[in-house]
Amino acid sequence: MTKHNPIALTEGSLPEDRWRLLQLVRETATRGGLPLYIVGGSVRDLVLGRRLNDFDLTVEGDALRLARALASKHGGRVTAHSKFGTAKWFLPQNLITDTQTPNTLDLISARSETYKHPAALPTVKPGSIADDLRRRDFTVNALAIRLDGSHFGELRDDLNGMADLQNGILRVLHPRSFIDDPTRPYRLVRYEARYAFRIAEATLALIPEARPFVAKLSAQRIRHELDLILDESDAVSMLRRLAALDLLAAIHPVLADFNRSKFATLESDDASLQNRDSRWVLWLMHLSDQEIESLHERLHFTASLLKILRSASLLNANLTALLGLKPSQVVEFLEGYSIKALEVVSCAVQDEKIRNILTRYHSEWWRVRPKTTGHDLKKRGIPPGPRYAEILRRLRAAWLDGEVKTAEEEKVLLENLLK
Ligand code: CTP
Repeated sequence: MTKHNPIALTEGSLPEDRWRLLQLVRETATRGGLPLYIVGGSVRDLVLGRRLNDFDLTVEGDALRLARALASKHGGRVTAHSKFGTAKWFLPQNLITDTQTPNTLDLISARSETYKHPAALPTVKPGSIADDLRRRDFTVNALAIRLDGSHFGELRDDLNGMADLQNGILRVLHPRSFIDDPTRPYRLVRYEARYAFRIAEATLALIPEARPFVAKLSAQRIRHELDLILDESDAVSMLRRLAALDLLAAIHPVLADFNRSKFATLESDDASLQNRDSRWVLWLMHLSDQEIESLHERLHFTASLLKILRSASLLNANLTALLGLKPSQVVEFLEGYSIKALEVVSCAVQDEKIRNILTRYHSEWWRVRPKTTGHDLKKRGIPPGPRYAEILRRLRAAWLDGEVKTAEEEKVLLENLLK
């Protein structure tokens, strides 16, 4: 099944560090007589002419043996995951010259995978490269290029991935693919929008019967898929497409109507919104606190994201209360909210008056402090207690509301308060 390879894997395809590393792995695999392949998404992106940041390597044989041979020749340390036939090589310092590239290299033994039940993690057995390609999600991800010795550059395309890649078609390898692994429909939609590919009709038709099995995926697995989507520049189209395919409702009913979310309607390329957490907030801030809690039971958000989501949902529900407040009241109102939540909500809010209030709080008001400190009050002989906070709050309010504008005026107010 080896084909002539029209793909150029050259020095320019990879960061310099990674290219050098690839050469070391090739040499050692060649010497040990181990067939070595670059596989999966790395090959797909090479064909598409994208520069790789990293690559996936598969060894037909014992990956741990290869990793140990590399470490004994070049240094560094190896850990193994024997159940899955994978080895991680922690690179020696002299092989890490670029802080942008990873300081480890994963080596994977070619394997076959079977699924005991839908959405289970696969049962893994050592296998050939042919098995390893057959276990994969889509034909375009089931390509490999051999790297060792004189085989360098030979293409393995057992499942006609190259033709699909050239025609821009996404196709599963067998009809049970989505049932075995219900994360795959989410990957499918991610690739569809990322590469502007078309989903083969027969593949699209398999989604409805797989949908009920989404509920069987662990929180961590489904949340990871959503994280990956939110990392994509075209996340909105992907979520819209998932909603249309009923794949968001399959995760949790509160996600069903994507068009209700701010993320769907907001047209902003504000830099502070271009990261994963901000996008989660944009997507979910319209939900009530009970809905956030219920979704958390399904997705197990990280503690920090959960805090931001709760805060954003609460703030979003209470925004109109900000209208007509004095700056000092705004500060007291907003003080308990997460700054991150505030930042995202203020980008998303439609009402201009409310947006202005949030922006002023975020850009200046929250930082306002009186000149007087607790230390000064102590020097004045005031016994420590809740009165300190009360006085300092009163002084801050005076600055915020324009009652005092100079240190002198603050002193006068302080004297009055202490009387
Ligand atoms: N894979 C699979 N089924 C999954 C996840 C991954 O078959 N549920 C296979 C695919 O062949 C995929 C490879 O494992 O190409 C590596 O997976 P991953 O790193 O998640 O994806 P990439 O293809 O590298 O793509 P990207 O990170 O760009 O999404």
